[in-house]
Amino acid sequence: NGVFTYDPGFMSTGSCESSITFIDGDAGILLHRGYPIAQLAEHSDYLETCYLLLYGELPDKDQKAEFEKTVGKHTMVNQSMHKFIEGFRNDAHPMAIMCGLVGALSAFYQDHMDITNSKHREIAAFRLISKMPTLAAICYKYSKDQPVMYPRNDLSYAENFLYMMFATPCEDYKVNPVFAKAMDRIFILHADHEQNASTSTVRLAGSSGANPFACIAAGIATLWGPAHGGANEAVLTMLEEIGDVENIDEYIAKAKDKNDPFRLMGFGHRVYKNFDPRAKVMRETCDQVLEELGQSNDPLLKIAKRLEQIALEDPYFVERKLYPNVDFYSGIIMKAIGIPTSMFTVIFAMSRTIGWISHWNEMISGAYKIGRPRQLYVGKPERDYPAKK
Ligand code: CMC
Repeated sequence: NGVFTYDPGFMSTGSCESSITFIDGDAGILLHRGYPIAQLAEHSDYLETCYLLLYGELPDKDQKAEFEKTVGKHTMVNQSMHKFIEGFRNDAHPMAIMCGLVGALSAFYQDHMDITNSKHREIAAFRLISKMPTLAAICYKYSKDQPVMYPRNDLSYAENFLYMMFATPCEDYKVNPVFAKAMDRIFILHADHEQNASTSTVRLAGSSGANPFACIAAGIATLWGPAHGGANEAVLTMLEEIGDVENIDEYIAKAKDKNDPFRLMGFGHRVYKNFDPRAKVMRETCDQVLEELGQSNDPLLKIAKRLEQIALEDPYFVERKLYPNVDFYSGIIMKAIGIPTSMFTVIFAMSRTIGWISHWNEMISGAYKIGRPRQLYVGKPERDYPAKK
């Protein structure tokens, strides 16, 4: 009837019903299928959390073993994809390559693409969960001009990822268990976050009937932005730019200056206005990793801790409820593990793939309409095309 609500940024618009993730931003609560995120980070592992998000319940022992086996079956990527990757410049941002590679999966895997068939949707989910680490590691190896390491299904999801990233054919590589545990936690803590920008994009793309690989590629593109998943990379860039604890005050002043577009990266959240429950777990993991590495005195960590302290006390941040978010700590952990900054958002994308595909599957399994927001037109009124001179 032409009546609609104008809601820029969808601050108060619910776009769907979902039974996957619950967030109470004021109370700092995040639940996946009812389970608190801190309990999952403590007791679960990434693939078990994937099962939970996708199917709604935790698996029993046999279901878990079967799920892991099936993930293992799909970890290789079609050999022609390696040739496809060679078409990119090797100094390209890995997120640019990931957008291309994941979209291209629909060209390499054309079977089982009937989205109305639940078995086909399940196969697409397995293909994505399994191949994302392989593709991410290939991007990294390509940027280093190093040979690709093929996946090892005898390792856990996190161990296999670290192996594909850091092993080389010429030496024996042992995955550090503290690093593998930290990676697994990073994966769990990023697995889903209800209707954020990238997940909403995946749903919107999916609502047109687009194939799952194209939908996830759209999610990856959205995640790349510094206000969303790109924040973990931006945090590290900011800490490096600050360079010394002495310079912090200058950056705090910039962050508060309304005429300066600079924002303190890794602070604030659209939904959490109390604290980010993921940040709490990430902070602990960060301390464990740095202790393991004997890097507790790392200069960037010192800057990070001081920033955190200032932001928790300064009235500007307190009044606006700007707390450190998950990305503030995840970047520091990944840097300590030896992962280059440009890979941070790729790792976020890998972890979030299960959330995206679970939401896509939930939407396609039920009744849905194509997403089609309205607009408030503020352009010129109707006018006549000028007569030719
Ligand atoms: N530094 C300085 N001021 C800030 C910041 C910040 N990081 N974040 C928000 N503000 C101020 C903002 O200027 C505004 O002030 P005022 O009311 O005086 O105009 C007020 O706080 C509210 O900000 P907003 O932009 O209306 O809040 P939002 O809910 O639209 O934005 C956000 C949320 C996460 C985009 C924003 O806080 C931000 O840009 N943070 C830095 C980027 C970042 O860390 N992003 C990662 C988000 S968590 C990972 C994910 O879920 O993807």
